Amino acid sequence: MSIRPILIHPDPRLKKVAAPVEGVSDEMRKLAEDMLETMYDAPGIGLAAPQLGISKRLIVMDCIKEEGAAPQPMALFNPVVQWSSDELNTYEEGCLSIPEQYGEVERPAEVTVTWTDMHGAECEAKFDKLWATCVQHEIDHLEGKLFIDYLKPLRRQMITRKMKKLKRERARG
Ligand code: NI
Repeated sequence: MSIRPILIHPDPRLKKVAAPVEGVSDEMRKLAEDMLETMYDAPGIGLAAPQLGISKRLIVMDCIKEEGAAPQPMALFNPVVQWSSDELNTYEEGCLSIPEQYGEVERPAEVTVTWTDMHGAECEAKFDKLWATCVQHEIDHLEGKLFIDYLKPLRRQMITRKMKKLKRERARG
């Protein structure tokens, strides 16, 4: 497994609609494992393939945050939200492609999602609380959508300016 670099907003690769994964190959499994390692290293609770510059419909997540609790790594190929609750929930969201910037986003409190797992099996599960927010945030990445797209334009522009500055600083080293 290896840690891969995470793209920082703004980047045109983060705005693209990702392509479906056609069959879970060894290459795709390796990508999922690298994504999990990259996510844990960051550290973060979710990561989507486009954040590594790979335009494929694959997300990983692990929303277990309690100290000492067993990790629950998940890799979801071609995830689709099949049902969303009318009830909404607000979380302060962040993103590994937008480091150290946070904003409150309102989303359905519960969602049912279908996906293909690492072994090629079709899965379905209902997610709630932080898991529901995380899975919706990551699926948004597959549509080229970021959490800042839900914020007010001024706030979004301010964050984008900060990220451009961060990228200039990193490029200078
Ligand atoms: Ni994100």
